Amino acid sequence: MTVRRYDVITLMPETFSGWLDAGLLGKARASGRIRVELTNPRSFTTDAHRTVDDVPYGGGAGMVLMAPPLIAALEDVDARAGSSGRRILLTPQGRPFGQADARRLAQLPHVVLVCGRYEGFDERIAAFVHEEISVGDYVLFGGEVAAMVVLEATIRLVPGVLGNARSSGEESFESGLLEYPQWTRPAVFRGMAVPDVLRSGDHAAIARFRRKEALRRTALRRPDLLARATLDETDRALLDEIAREPFPAGGQTGSSD
Ligand code: ADE
Repeated sequence: MTVRRYDVITLMPETFSGWLDAGLLGKARASGRIRVELTNPRSFTTDAHRTVDDVPYGGGAGMVLMAPPLIAALEDVDARAGSSGRRILLTPQGRPFGQADARRLAQLPHVVLVCGRYEGFDERIAAFVHEEISVGDYVLFGGEVAAMVVLEATIRLVPGVLGNARSSGEESFESGLLEYPQWTRPAVFRGMAVPDVLRSGDHAAIARFRRKEALRRTALRRPDLLARATLDETDRALLDEIAREPFPAGGQTGSSD
C-alpha cells in the first residue's frame, strides 16, 4: 500500500479539524494510506509572549511572520517524520497551482505545506522551502485554505484514495478539456428533459455526445485550455459541427473580472 505523509505548518491548526475527518479524506486517513500532521510554529517560540510576528524593517503597516519559530517547526517536522519532505510555501506570490502540480506532488512520499499568515512573512523563510505556490490570483487571510486546496487535489490522486471505480483520468484538466455535462433522475425536471441519446443505450453515440459536449464547453468557457489540448481528427470534426450549430448552448453567464 502506498503511504503518504503530509505535514502542515500553521498558526491555526483548528481550521483543519472538520475538513480532515470528512468524506474521502477522512476515509483515506482512517485506512492508513495517508497521514496528515499539523504543527504550530507558536510551540517553537522562546519568549513569554510566544511571539510569532513582528513589525517590518523599514516601517509600514502590518506584522510580518518571523523566521525562527517557523524554521524550527519545519526542522522538527522532518526530524519527527524521519524524512526530509518537499517543502512548499503557500503565498499569493507563488507559482499558480494546477492539476499537473497535484499529479507531481501525489508521487512524493512526504510533503510539507507552510501557511503564511498576517500581512506577510520574513523573506528569509523562502530560503528554507523548495517552492512557493499560489492557488489563485486573490488574497486569502492566510495559507490555510490554500493548503487544503493543494492537499485535496493531491491526496485524491494517491493510489487507493478514490474508492470509486471511476478513474481520475477522465476528469476535467486530466484530458486537457473540461468535463462533459451529466444528468441523473428524474428524466424531466421542471420542463427540462435529459438529452435522448443518454437514454438510448447506444454506447458509441453516448461517447460521441460526451466528447462533443466536453469540446463545446471548453471552447465556450475555457478557450485557453482548448488551444493547448491534444485533439484528433474526430475532435476537429466535432468542433466544426459545433461551430455550424445556430445557438451555442452551455455557455456561462456572469463576469470573470
Ligand atoms: N495565502 C493568501 N492568499 C493565498 C493564495 N491566493 N494562494 C496561496 N496562499 C495564499
